[in-house]
Parts: sequence; C-alpha cells; structure tokens
Amino acid sequence: MTGFPPDFTWGVAAAAYQVEGAANEDGRTPSIWDTFAHAEGTTADGSTGDVACDHYHRFAEDVALMADLGIDSYRLSVSWSRIVPDASGRPNPAGLDFYDRLLDSLADNGISPAVNLFHWDLPQWAQDAGGWQQRDTAARFAEYAEIVAARLGDRVGTWSTINEMFEHFALGHVTGEHAPGLTLPLEEAAGVVHHLLLASGHAAQVLRGRLMGITSYAPARPHTDSDADRDAAALYDVLQNRLFTDPVLLGRYPAELEPLIEPFVREGDLAVVHAPPDLWGVNYYSINSVRATEGAVPLEVLAPQGFPRTAFGWAVAPEGLTEVLTTLHERYAEHLPPLVITENGCAYDDTVDAAGGCDDLERVVFLDEHLAAVRAAMNAGVDVRGYYVWSLLDNFEWAEGYTKRFGLVHVDYATQRRTPKTSFGWYRDRIAASR
Ligand code: FCB
Repeated sequence: MTGFPPDFTWGVAAAAYQVEGAANEDGRTPSIWDTFAHAEGTTADGSTGDVACDHYHRFAEDVALMADLGIDSYRLSVSWSRIVPDASGRPNPAGLDFYDRLLDSLADNGISPAVNLFHWDLPQWAQDAGGWQQRDTAARFAEYAEIVAARLGDRVGTWSTINEMFEHFALGHVTGEHAPGLTLPLEEAAGVVHHLLLASGHAAQVLRGRLMGITSYAPARPHTDSDADRDAAALYDVLQNRLFTDPVLLGRYPAELEPLIEPFVREGDLAVVHAPPDLWGVNYYSINSVRATEGAVPLEVLAPQGFPRTAFGWAVAPEGLTEVLTTLHERYAEHLPPLVITENGCAYDDTVDAAGGCDDLERVVFLDEHLAAVRAAMNAGVDVRGYYVWSLLDNFEWAEGYTKRFGLVHVDYATQRRTPKTSFGWYRDRIAASR
C-alpha cells in the first residue's frame, strides 16, 4: 500500500520560543533561551527569539494557513515563563489568555491542538535555582503542568510533557551549544537526565487526557569498521535512542548507563518515571555517523558520507526513518504504544522569486520520500497514527538563528510577510488525497 488510512492524523509542529516573539509582553519573563541568545556568540547570526515570527500577534493569520492546509492537528508548545513568570509559582493570567485565544482559534477551524509543555525554554528563574540539575525543578514542572491543564485542558486533544530530552540534556548541558550553555562532566549532567524524566513522570500524573511521549531517534552508524567506532556507535545508540525510552516504557535505565544515573535516583522514582503514554512521538531528521574520540565524552557525531545533504548539512536518508520505526517496534514490542511522527522536515535556502513564489522542490522530494518511508514501516506492521511536518513557518532555529529555513511557509523577517512555498500546496494536496 502507498496511501494512508483516512483517520491518519496530519499536522504541522512548532515550538513557543521559535515562533512566538513577544518576549517581554504581558508579563512574560526570560527563559534560558532568551538569556543564552542574548549572550555574545551563541547564535550563528547573533539573533534572538525576541520577535521570531511574531506568532503571538499573528496567530490568526497562521491558523488560517493551517486551515488552508487542511491539517487535523497543530503541535505547539507553551512557554513556561509566560505562564509562570517567577519563582512564586503564581500563574500569569495574561499569559494563559494568549493560549486561550490560540486554542479557540484552532477549535474554530477544526484543528486539534497537541500541546507540549516544555520545548527547551526553562524559565530563567528556575535555572537560577539550579535548573534541571536540581531535583526540585521536577516538582516545579508538575505545578506548572497542573496550571496549564486546569486552564487549557478542555480544548487539548493530546498532551506531551518534554520535547527531545536527549537534545536538551546533550546540547544544553554537555556540549554547551544550546541554552543553558553548560559543559558539565557526564557524571553531573546525568542528574539532568533523571530530573527531566522525573518531571515528565510527575506531569503525566496531573495531565488528564491522551498523553504522548516525544523523543528524537536516529540510527547510529559506526564511522569506520574499527572496534572503537563500533563501540562508540553502540554507546550513542543507547544515549540517544534508549536512555529516555527505556525508563518510561520499561521502568529501568539501560544497564550501560545505570551506574551514571544511579546516584540521582531515589526510592520510588522509577515508578513515577515509568508512565507509559498513549502514543509515542518520533522526531526524525537524519542518520548519524559516530566515531570514537579521546574526549571526556568519548565520541563524535558526524554526517555520514554518500548521502545528499540539506542546507544544515544533515544527510537526507529516508530509509533511516523506516529503520527507527521498525527498531522501536521490535525493541519495545508490547510495551510500545502506537507511534506518531511528531517532527520531520528539512532546511533549504529558500528564497522568494520575482514572481512572488517560493519554489522548494527539494523539500517536496524530501517529504514525499519520508512519507513513503513511514508507509514502508506501516506495511511492515508498525502502528503509525500520524505525521507532523516541522514546521509550518520558517522560524528561529536555536543556535542557527534565522539562517536555517524549515517552513512550508517562507517568512520574511523584516516584514513578517508569509509566503507559502511549493511544498505547502503539495502537502495540502497530499492531505486532501488521503481523505
Ligand atoms: C528538533 C527540534 C525542533 C527543531 C528541529 C529542526 O530537534 O525539536 O525544535 O529545531 O529539530
């Protein structure tokens, strides 16, 4: 089969700090990403998310674009520091009002929101209190979850707690490429792993309704045939592809990493962490080539040779998506809930031409091949329920600033003009054809 079932969920995904802007409005206080991006030399173009796509003010226009696409669901994240601006823990009504307006607008257009509570933008007040190295942050996260659920829960189709714990842990706390920009030794960073999982488990207890986990997956290939590279690839596979799923789905840490995490684990924690959700979200972009190094973290991740590359330098490897889906299916068997592709997409140097169009044929090919890869996994027996393109709009791509464009819609950051790209019309037709 090549088509998708009529009840398959089609969507687009985005995250608060990457699109909202309005960084200082209506009582929002800085998150670690505001602090980080404002520091010298942290983003490729020196930019910040202060304005981003100005989605905070232009959400109605953006929801109209979503309606035009015909999507079933919009995966968004809410900004913790917009909702809980300081350590008192008191909710900010004006911050919640924004999400009220957004959810109402989605409902008016028949679009079901998949709401994620944390897409890397920890409030600076929580970082000042120790951030994810501090166990108490998990408890603060649960309080925040409760506030969001109480106010928005009646309109949320699907909840998720934390996007890509691995990237937030690794890039934010080990390599320092992302906020909060820490370069901790692994023994210390391991606390971040456990506290993220604990936070997610506590939040799962207060969120009513359908719950979805979200992690990134990528096959890890040894860079050469050497034993050292094979071991490095095997270790990376555990770090990225099992460290966060094993505890949630199986209730235990991978044996290889248990000694590292154990000092942070208290009696009863794993029962909290072991909160298997109703769906599991897979963010997939590429496959990795891993080589052994002498560093404190004894490996390095490279783009594999012999593949076309996106503007990010990432290998275009749709077969890797089939592979991660079938691997999850085999690895977790009856413990695995149905899967959803919660992010998939690509960056290209898209420009608006003289006629006012934006012809991103490479993205059309990329998405078409990746959908075929999803279908191949489904044909092999994997239960996949939906697919979200990253992203609706070009947006603030973390350390890359505005230099990497992932949108189905081009954004001119000087004017905030939105121009649907060729891929937008292609995705719309593709969704319509599957109904
Ligand atoms: C993922 C992030 C998302 C976006 C894409 C390109 O790792 O979850 O915010 O930046 O990469």
